[in-house]
Amino acid sequence: MRRQDTIVLRDLTKVFSLGLLGRKKIIAVDRVNLEIRSGEILNILGESGSGKSTIAKMVLRLLRPTKGEILFNNTNIWRMTKWKDIKEYYRRVQGVFQDPYSSFNPRRRVLDVLYDTLYNYFPEYREDKVSAKKYIAEALESVGLNINDIEGKYSHQLSGGQLQRASIARALLPKPSFIVADEPVSMVDASTRIDILNIFIDLKEEYGVSPIIIGHDYSLAYYASDRIVVLYKGQIVEEGPPEVLEDPAHPYTRLLKESVPLIDRKWSKKLEYSIGDIEVSRRGKGCIFADRCPFKKPICEQKEPPVINLGKSKVKCWLYASK
Ligand SMILES: Nc1ncnc2c1ncn2[C@@H]1O[C@H](COP(=O)(O)OP(=O)(O)OP(=O)(O)O)[C@@H](O)[C@H]1O
Ligand code: SF4
Ligand SMILES: [Mg+2]
Repeated sequence: MRRQDTIVLRDLTKVFSLGLLGRKKIIAVDRVNLEIRSGEILNILGESGSGKSTIAKMVLRLLRPTKGEILFNNTNIWRMTKWKDIKEYYRRVQGVFQDPYSSFNPRRRVLDVLYDTLYNYFPEYREDKVSAKKYIAEALESVGLNINDIEGKYSHQLSGGQLQRASIARALLPKPSFIVADEPVSMVDASTRIDILNIFIDLKEEYGVSPIIIGHDYSLAYYASDRIVVLYKGQIVEEGPPEVLEDPAHPYTRLLKESVPLIDRKWSKKLEYSIGDIEVSRRGKGCIFADRCPFKKPICEQKEPPVINLGKSKVKCWLYASK
Protein backbone atom coordinates (compact mmCIF):
# COMPACT_ATOMS: atom_id res chain seq x y z
CA MET A 1 0.00 0.00 0.00
CA ARG A 2 1.43 3.35 -1.06
CA ARG A 3 1.65 6.15 1.49
CA GLN A 4 -0.74 9.03 1.12
CA ASP A 5 0.87 12.43 1.20
CA THR A 6 -0.90 15.73 0.80
CA ILE A 7 0.11 19.26 0.06
CA VAL A 8 -2.47 21.84 1.06
CA LEU A 9 -2.23 25.44 -0.08
CA ARG A 10 -4.27 27.61 2.22
CA ASP A 11 -4.90 31.24 1.21
CA LEU A 12 -1.46 31.18 -0.41
CA THR A 13 -0.50 34.70 -1.42
CA LYS A 14 2.61 36.33 -2.84
CA VAL A 15 2.94 40.07 -3.22
CA PHE A 16 5.99 41.53 -4.96
CA SER A 17 7.14 45.09 -4.35
CA LEU A 18 8.36 46.94 -7.39
CA GLY A 19 10.23 50.17 -7.99
CA LEU A 20 13.13 51.72 -6.09
CA LEU A 21 11.06 52.39 -2.99
CA GLY A 22 8.98 49.26 -3.38
CA ARG A 23 5.79 51.34 -3.41
CA LYS A 24 4.10 49.52 -6.26
CA LYS A 25 2.95 46.16 -5.08
CA ILE A 26 1.59 43.48 -7.36
CA ILE A 27 -0.18 40.32 -6.37
CA ALA A 28 1.42 37.39 -8.17
CA VAL A 29 -0.53 34.73 -6.27
CA ASP A 30 -3.83 35.63 -4.67
CA ARG A 31 -5.32 33.52 -1.86
CA VAL A 32 -4.93 30.18 -3.60
CA ASN A 33 -6.63 27.27 -1.87
CA LEU A 34 -5.81 23.83 -3.16
CA GLU A 35 -5.42 20.30 -1.86
CA ILE A 36 -3.00 18.11 -3.79
CA ARG A 37 -3.13 14.43 -2.99
CA SER A 38 -0.55 11.87 -3.96
CA GLY A 39 -1.88 9.49 -6.60
CA GLU A 40 -2.99 12.11 -9.11
CA ILE A 41 -1.48 14.24 -11.85
CA LEU A 42 -2.37 17.82 -11.17
CA ASN A 43 -2.02 20.32 -13.97
CA ILE A 44 -1.81 24.04 -13.31
CA LEU A 45 -2.73 25.88 -16.49
CA GLY A 46 -2.27 29.59 -17.04
CA GLU A 47 -0.90 32.22 -19.32
CA SER A 48 2.40 33.97 -18.91
CA GLY A 49 2.38 36.05 -15.73
CA SER A 50 -0.54 34.22 -14.11
CA GLY A 51 1.58 33.18 -11.13
CA LYS A 52 2.44 29.57 -12.01
CA SER A 53 6.16 29.71 -11.29
CA THR A 54 5.59 31.74 -8.15
CA ILE A 55 3.35 28.95 -6.81
CA ALA A 56 5.95 26.34 -7.83
CA LYS A 57 8.75 28.24 -6.09
CA MET A 58 6.73 28.58 -2.90
CA VAL A 59 5.81 24.89 -2.90
CA LEU A 60 9.45 23.97 -3.52
CA ARG A 61 10.38 26.16 -0.56
CA LEU A 62 12.45 28.51 -2.71
CA LEU A 63 10.25 31.56 -2.12
CA ARG A 64 8.51 32.55 1.10
CA PRO A 65 4.78 33.31 0.85
CA THR A 66 3.61 36.77 1.84
CA LYS A 67 0.53 35.26 3.47
CA GLY A 68 -1.11 31.89 3.77
CA GLU A 69 0.27 28.44 4.37
CA ILE A 70 1.67 25.42 2.60
CA LEU A 71 0.97 22.32 4.63
CA PHE A 72 2.74 19.05 3.91
CA ASN A 73 0.91 16.28 5.76
CA ASN A 74 -0.49 18.98 8.07
CA THR A 75 2.89 20.60 8.81
CA ASN A 76 3.51 24.16 7.67
CA ILE A 77 6.65 23.88 5.55
CA TRP A 78 7.72 27.43 6.38
CA ARG A 79 7.52 26.72 10.12
CA MET A 80 9.92 23.79 9.90
CA THR A 81 13.00 24.65 11.94
CA LYS A 82 14.98 21.42 12.05
CA TRP A 83 17.21 20.83 9.02
CA LYS A 84 16.29 17.13 9.23
CA ASP A 85 12.60 17.98 8.60
CA ILE A 86 13.42 20.47 5.85
CA LYS A 87 15.67 17.96 4.09
CA GLU A 88 12.99 15.30 4.34
CA TYR A 89 10.54 17.74 2.72
CA TYR A 90 13.00 18.44 -0.11
CA ARG A 91 13.38 14.71 -0.56
CA ARG A 92 9.64 14.15 -0.83
CA VAL A 93 8.86 17.18 -3.01
CA GLN A 94 11.25 17.50 -5.91
CA GLY A 95 11.38 20.04 -8.74
CA VAL A 96 11.93 19.88 -12.50
CA PHE A 97 12.39 23.16 -14.34
CA GLN A 98 11.72 24.59 -17.76
CA ASP A 99 15.32 24.89 -18.93
CA PRO A 100 17.19 21.64 -18.28
CA TYR A 101 20.51 23.29 -19.19
CA SER A 102 20.20 25.65 -16.23
CA SER A 103 19.48 22.72 -13.91
CA PHE A 104 22.89 21.11 -14.46
CA ASN A 105 26.27 22.60 -13.64
CA PRO A 106 27.91 22.84 -17.10
CA ARG A 107 31.32 22.04 -15.62
CA ARG A 108 30.27 18.69 -14.21
CA ARG A 109 29.40 15.53 -16.05
CA VAL A 110 25.67 14.84 -15.94
CA LEU A 111 26.18 11.42 -14.39
CA ASP A 112 28.34 12.90 -11.61
CA VAL A 113 25.52 15.31 -10.78
CA LEU A 114 23.18 12.33 -10.45
CA TYR A 115 25.64 10.57 -8.13
CA ASP A 116 25.87 13.74 -5.99
CA THR A 117 22.08 13.78 -5.63
CA LEU A 118 21.95 10.11 -4.72
CA TYR A 119 24.72 10.40 -2.12
CA ASN A 120 23.16 13.53 -0.68
CA TYR A 121 19.94 11.71 0.15
CA PHE A 122 21.23 8.18 0.60
CA PRO A 123 24.88 8.42 1.78
CA GLU A 124 25.06 4.64 2.27
CA TYR A 125 25.44 4.28 -1.51
CA ARG A 126 28.91 5.88 -1.30
CA GLU A 127 30.16 2.61 0.12
CA ASP A 128 28.49 0.51 -2.54
CA LYS A 129 29.31 1.91 -5.96
CA VAL A 130 27.89 -1.10 -7.84
CA SER A 131 24.46 -0.66 -6.26
CA ALA A 132 24.66 3.11 -6.77
CA LYS A 133 25.27 2.66 -10.48
CA LYS A 134 22.43 0.13 -10.72
CA TYR A 135 20.08 2.51 -8.91
CA ILE A 136 20.93 5.40 -11.20
CA ALA A 137 20.70 3.21 -14.31
CA GLU A 138 17.19 2.15 -13.25
CA ALA A 139 16.11 5.76 -12.69
CA LEU A 140 17.44 6.64 -16.14
CA GLU A 141 15.68 3.67 -17.71
CA SER A 142 12.38 4.76 -16.20
CA VAL A 143 12.66 7.98 -18.20
CA GLY A 144 13.76 6.23 -21.38
CA LEU A 145 17.53 6.82 -21.12
CA ASN A 146 20.34 4.31 -21.11
CA ILE A 147 23.16 5.10 -18.70
CA ASN A 148 25.61 4.57 -21.57
CA ASP A 149 23.94 7.43 -23.47
CA ILE A 150 25.04 9.94 -20.87
CA GLU A 151 28.23 8.34 -19.51
CA GLY A 152 31.09 10.87 -19.56
CA LYS A 153 28.95 13.62 -21.07
CA TYR A 154 28.44 17.21 -20.00
CA SER A 155 25.03 18.88 -20.28
CA HIS A 156 25.87 20.68 -23.53
CA GLN A 157 26.61 17.32 -25.13
CA LEU A 158 23.01 16.14 -24.66
CA SER A 159 19.89 17.24 -26.50
CA GLY A 160 17.27 19.28 -24.64
CA GLY A 161 14.96 16.27 -24.55
CA GLN A 162 17.70 13.96 -23.23
CA LEU A 163 18.72 16.47 -20.59
CA GLN A 164 15.13 17.04 -19.48
CA ARG A 165 14.78 13.26 -19.09
CA ALA A 166 18.01 13.25 -17.04
CA SER A 167 16.63 16.00 -14.82
CA ILE A 168 13.44 14.00 -14.25
CA ALA A 169 15.62 10.96 -13.41
CA ARG A 170 17.55 13.10 -10.93
CA ALA A 171 14.30 14.25 -9.33
CA LEU A 172 13.29 10.58 -8.99
CA LEU A 173 16.45 9.49 -7.17
CA PRO A 174 15.33 10.57 -3.68
CA LYS A 175 12.06 8.58 -4.15
CA PRO A 176 9.80 11.65 -3.91
CA SER A 177 6.05 11.70 -3.42
CA PHE A 178 5.61 14.76 -5.65
CA ILE A 179 7.51 16.21 -8.58
CA VAL A 180 6.70 19.85 -9.27
CA ALA A 181 7.46 20.33 -12.97
CA ASP A 182 7.42 23.97 -14.06
CA GLU A 183 6.85 24.05 -17.83
CA PRO A 184 8.84 20.83 -18.33
CA VAL A 185 8.13 20.61 -22.05
CA SER A 186 8.09 24.19 -23.23
CA MET A 187 11.78 24.23 -24.15
CA VAL A 188 12.05 20.78 -25.64
CA ASP A 189 11.48 19.92 -29.26
CA ALA A 190 7.76 19.76 -30.13
CA SER A 191 8.14 16.15 -31.28
CA THR A 192 9.34 14.97 -27.85
CA ARG A 193 6.78 16.84 -25.73
CA ILE A 194 4.31 13.99 -25.63
CA ASP A 195 7.12 11.54 -24.81
CA ILE A 196 8.09 13.61 -21.79
CA LEU A 197 4.46 13.87 -20.67
CA ASN A 198 4.16 10.10 -21.07
CA ILE A 199 7.06 9.75 -18.64
CA PHE A 200 5.08 11.67 -16.03
CA ILE A 201 2.06 9.44 -16.63
CA ASP A 202 4.26 6.33 -16.20
CA LEU A 203 5.85 7.71 -13.05
CA LYS A 204 2.45 8.04 -11.49
CA GLU A 205 1.25 4.63 -12.58
CA GLU A 206 4.42 2.61 -12.04
CA TYR A 207 6.28 4.43 -9.29
CA GLY A 208 3.50 6.18 -7.40
CA VAL A 209 5.08 9.61 -7.89
CA SER A 210 2.55 12.40 -8.24
CA PRO A 211 3.47 15.01 -10.82
CA ILE A 212 2.30 18.59 -10.46
CA ILE A 213 2.69 19.82 -14.02
CA ILE A 214 2.67 23.52 -14.72
CA GLY A 215 2.05 24.70 -18.25
CA HIS A 216 0.38 27.11 -20.62
CA ASP A 217 -0.64 24.69 -23.37
CA TYR A 218 -4.32 23.80 -23.31
CA SER A 219 -4.04 20.55 -25.23
CA LEU A 220 -1.01 19.30 -23.30
CA ALA A 221 -2.78 20.03 -20.01
CA TYR A 222 -5.72 17.97 -21.23
CA TYR A 223 -3.41 15.15 -22.31
CA ALA A 224 -1.65 14.56 -19.01
CA SER A 225 -3.83 15.29 -16.01
CA ASP A 226 -6.30 13.89 -13.55
CA ARG A 227 -7.22 17.35 -12.35
CA ILE A 228 -6.76 20.78 -13.84
CA VAL A 229 -6.51 24.11 -12.12
CA VAL A 230 -6.94 27.20 -14.28
CA LEU A 231 -5.09 30.22 -12.99
CA TYR A 232 -5.79 33.81 -13.99
CA LYS A 233 -3.93 36.75 -12.44
CA GLY A 234 -2.87 34.66 -9.50
CA GLN A 235 -6.36 33.35 -8.71
CA ILE A 236 -7.84 29.93 -9.35
CA VAL A 237 -10.87 30.57 -11.57
CA GLU A 238 -11.78 26.99 -12.39
CA GLU A 239 -10.79 23.58 -11.10
CA GLY A 240 -11.91 20.09 -12.05
CA PRO A 241 -11.22 16.94 -14.07
CA PRO A 242 -9.70 17.31 -17.57
CA GLU A 243 -13.18 17.18 -19.14
CA VAL A 244 -13.57 20.71 -17.75
CA LEU A 245 -11.48 21.79 -20.71
CA GLU A 246 -13.96 20.25 -23.14
CA ASP A 247 -16.87 22.18 -21.72
CA PRO A 248 -15.49 24.94 -19.51
CA ALA A 249 -17.78 26.88 -17.19
CA HIS A 250 -15.68 29.98 -16.49
CA PRO A 251 -15.74 32.65 -19.21
CA TYR A 252 -11.93 32.90 -19.05
CA THR A 253 -11.44 29.15 -19.59
CA ARG A 254 -13.91 29.38 -22.48
CA LEU A 255 -11.82 32.14 -23.99
CA LEU A 256 -8.73 29.98 -23.64
CA LYS A 257 -10.52 27.15 -25.38
CA GLU A 258 -11.60 29.38 -28.25
CA SER A 259 -8.01 30.49 -28.75
CA VAL A 260 -6.96 26.88 -29.43
CA PRO A 261 -7.05 26.30 -33.18
CA LEU A 262 -9.39 23.45 -33.92
CA ILE A 263 -7.07 21.68 -36.35
CA ASP A 264 -4.60 20.33 -33.85
CA ARG A 265 -5.94 21.75 -30.62
CA LYS A 266 -2.59 23.37 -30.01
CA TRP A 267 -2.56 26.72 -28.34
CA SER A 268 -0.06 28.08 -30.76
CA LYS A 269 -1.09 31.69 -30.89
CA LYS A 270 -0.95 34.01 -27.94
CA LEU A 271 -4.12 35.60 -26.72
CA GLU A 272 -4.51 39.07 -28.09
CA TYR A 273 -4.35 40.93 -24.82
CA SER A 274 -1.67 41.16 -22.24
CA ILE A 275 -2.54 39.57 -18.93
CA GLY A 276 -1.37 42.58 -16.90
CA ASP A 277 -0.59 42.74 -13.22
CA ILE A 278 -3.10 43.10 -10.46
CA GLU A 279 -2.23 45.80 -7.98
CA VAL A 280 -2.88 45.30 -4.30
CA SER A 281 -5.27 48.25 -4.17
CA ARG A 282 -7.59 46.59 -6.74
CA ARG A 283 -7.87 43.28 -4.95
CA GLY A 284 -11.28 42.16 -3.83
CA LYS A 285 -13.02 44.98 -5.76
CA GLY A 286 -14.83 42.59 -8.05
CA CYS A 287 -14.04 39.86 -10.51
CA ILE A 288 -10.47 40.02 -11.85
CA PHE A 289 -11.75 39.05 -15.30
CA ALA A 290 -14.52 41.68 -15.39
CA ASP A 291 -12.71 44.07 -17.76
CA ARG A 292 -12.65 41.40 -20.47
CA CYS A 293 -15.66 39.29 -19.73
CA PRO A 294 -18.48 39.24 -22.31
CA PHE A 295 -20.94 37.97 -19.66
CA LYS A 296 -20.22 40.67 -17.10
CA LYS A 297 -23.12 41.69 -14.81
CA PRO A 298 -23.22 44.83 -12.58
CA ILE A 299 -22.31 42.80 -9.49
CA CYS A 300 -19.16 41.51 -11.18
CA GLU A 301 -17.41 44.86 -10.78
CA GLN A 302 -18.65 45.45 -7.26
CA LYS A 303 -18.14 42.21 -5.41
CA GLU A 304 -15.64 39.44 -5.68
CA PRO A 305 -17.33 36.29 -7.05
CA PRO A 306 -17.66 33.33 -4.71
CA VAL A 307 -16.29 29.88 -5.54
CA ILE A 308 -19.24 27.77 -6.65
CA ASN A 309 -19.17 24.01 -6.46
CA LEU A 310 -20.74 22.62 -9.63
CA GLY A 311 -20.29 19.01 -8.56
CA LYS A 312 -17.57 17.90 -10.93
CA SER A 313 -15.81 21.23 -10.90
CA LYS A 314 -15.48 24.47 -8.97
CA VAL A 315 -15.74 27.84 -10.61
CA LYS A 316 -15.21 31.36 -9.32
CA CYS A 317 -17.93 33.29 -11.14
CA TRP A 318 -21.18 35.13 -10.41
CA LEU A 319 -22.91 33.40 -13.35
CA TYR A 320 -23.34 30.29 -11.24
CA ALA A 321 -24.08 31.92 -7.90
CA SER A 322 -27.82 31.27 -7.90
CA LYS A 323 -27.63 27.69 -9.14
N1 LIG B 1 10.97 38.31 -8.31
C1 LIG B 1 9.94 39.02 -8.76
N2 LIG B 1 9.83 40.34 -8.52
C2 LIG B 1 8.78 41.04 -8.94
N3 LIG B 1 7.75 40.53 -9.64
C3 LIG B 1 7.81 39.24 -9.93
C4 LIG B 1 8.89 38.39 -9.51
N4 LIG B 1 8.65 37.12 -9.94
C5 LIG B 1 7.48 37.17 -10.60
N5 LIG B 1 6.96 38.42 -10.59
C6 LIG B 1 5.69 38.84 -11.17
O1 LIG B 1 4.68 38.00 -10.65
C7 LIG B 1 3.74 37.67 -11.64
C8 LIG B 1 3.66 36.16 -11.81
O2 LIG B 1 4.92 35.70 -12.30
P1 LIG B 1 5.21 34.16 -12.58
O3 LIG B 1 6.64 34.05 -12.98
O4 LIG B 1 4.78 33.37 -11.40
O5 LIG B 1 4.25 33.86 -13.79
P2 LIG B 1 4.14 32.56 -14.72
O6 LIG B 1 2.71 32.17 -14.74
O7 LIG B 1 5.11 31.53 -14.25
O8 LIG B 1 4.54 33.12 -16.14
P3 LIG B 1 5.37 32.41 -17.36
O9 LIG B 1 4.38 31.54 -18.08
O10 LIG B 1 5.81 33.57 -18.18
O11 LIG B 1 6.50 31.64 -16.77
C9 LIG B 1 4.17 38.40 -12.91
O12 LIG B 1 3.46 39.62 -12.96
C10 LIG B 1 5.63 38.65 -12.67
O13 LIG B 1 6.06 39.81 -13.35
S1 SF4 C 1 -17.87 36.89 -12.28
FE1 SF4 C 1 -18.78 38.11 -13.88
S2 SF4 C 1 -17.07 39.15 -14.89
FE2 SF4 C 1 -16.25 37.47 -13.70
S3 SF4 C 1 -16.09 35.79 -15.10
FE3 SF4 C 1 -18.05 35.57 -14.07
S4 SF4 C 1 -19.53 36.66 -15.38
FE4 SF4 C 1 -17.48 37.28 -16.03
MG1 LIG D 1 6.73 30.57 -15.18
